[in-house]
Amino acid sequence: MNILLLGSGGREHTLAWKISQSPQLTKLYTAPGNAGTSDYGTNVDLNPNDFENVKAFAKTHHIKYIVVGPEEPLVNGIADYFTHDNTTEAIVIGPNQKAAQLEGSKDFAKNFMLKHGIPTAMYKSFTSDTYDDALSFLKDMTAPYVLKADGLAAGKGVIICPTYETAVKELEHMLLGQRFGKASQRVVIENFLDGIEMSVFVVTDGKNFKMLPHAKDYKKIGEKDTGPNTGGMGAVSPVPFVDKALLNNIEHSVVAPTIKALKTEEIDYRGFLFFGLMIVDGLPYVIEYNVRLGDPETEVILPLMQSDIIDMFQCIENQNIENYNMRISDAYATTVMMVSGGYPGSYNKGEEIILPEITDNDCRIFHAGTLKNKEDRLVTNGGRVIAVTAFGDTLEQALQSSYKQLGKIHFDKCYYRKDIGKDLLPYITRK
Ligand code: AMP
Ligand code: GLY
Repeated sequence: MNILLLGSGGREHTLAWKISQSPQLTKLYTAPGNAGTSDYGTNVDLNPNDFENVKAFAKTHHIKYIVVGPEEPLVNGIADYFTHDNTTEAIVIGPNQKAAQLEGSKDFAKNFMLKHGIPTAMYKSFTSDTYDDALSFLKDMTAPYVLKADGLAAGKGVIICPTYETAVKELEHMLLGQRFGKASQRVVIENFLDGIEMSVFVVTDGKNFKMLPHAKDYKKIGEKDTGPNTGGMGAVSPVPFVDKALLNNIEHSVVAPTIKALKTEEIDYRGFLFFGLMIVDGLPYVIEYNVRLGDPETEVILPLMQSDIIDMFQCIENQNIENYNMRISDAYATTVMMVSGGYPGSYNKGEEIILPEITDNDCRIFHAGTLKNKEDRLVTNGGRVIAVTAFGDTLEQALQSSYKQLGKIHFDKCYYRKDIGKDLLPYITRK
């Protein structure tokens, strides 16, 4: 069968690699892809948000599944577009537009959680018409203040303000100055949750769900979690502080109620669902829903998944995910992201990448922002450039392998965090 994968990051390279391992695959196309995805099929110069052209391609190339990596096409309604189209057989792996509001609107997601008793931070949302109410709401809260643009803002729409004064300034920028354009016409203000973050992933067919491996990612650019947020600088799976009891609690107090609430609301959700959680005093709270897999979490969770991913797509299509035999390795996986100097601010593109052949079986290189230029040389093409994933029987072993291979990769002004996973090592010795 032929598959079209949409997206161009490390997540998509990992998906391409995983899909290519299935004996059921005939041909994989990735649009637009990167220098890594082209190793597993053909990169296609298509914009994932241009549904007309995606359809034309799907038709001529007899695509069975369109696997959507990033959130934007989902929030824009790509699943609905193909459901309503009778001229192709292509099925979108990803939720419809209504379901994608779980990520597309923070206000929608918070309302949903409140209505269905899913644990999350207390909140209220405001528009420019209710700016004065927002100010008095802020006054009644204590520092730090959490302000969130309602709509999609490329992962940058959450601002945590240390003082009331900075929060007021930020609120003004967001609501009155439209700092994030349309996305901040509505702003959610919520309680700060002081805890430790983790990411939980499930796949659902709209009726039942299966848990994928969970992970922790590292969002800040600087070591010891300092500096501005990025898309993610590294990830670890599984998370050593997550024991069976906590995982059980997450499944029963967060995941199952969410799937049940989707059914109650008659929201037909089919695809991956990602829960961004804060664990506070041992209890999970939902910080956000994402309607896709995470990046760089995918670079650790899919390599740990031993079962066939196309079987999973078929179970989503046939709504029998309960029959999917999810097999997960009991190894640790770690990934460390090499980024362009300056990221998440401005950075150069087109820097030549020195990338040695990796012979180590416990290691995989996943490309993010890379490109083969006209001279067929591998060059940088984004902020996040290369993720180095490694496996180990222990977290330390996996980290050591990731860093050993990373040390051999180079481009001008490359940067990576040297402390990925370090904060988790004490949880292991304590066990
Ligand atoms: P989000 O885009 O919703 O994932 O938020 C980005 C980051 O802001 C999260 O990964 C957290 O580190 C932080 N964050 C969001 N909401 C809260 C909250 N209520 N309390 C503390 N930190 C938060
Ligand atoms: N790593 C977080 C995300 O993909 O949103």
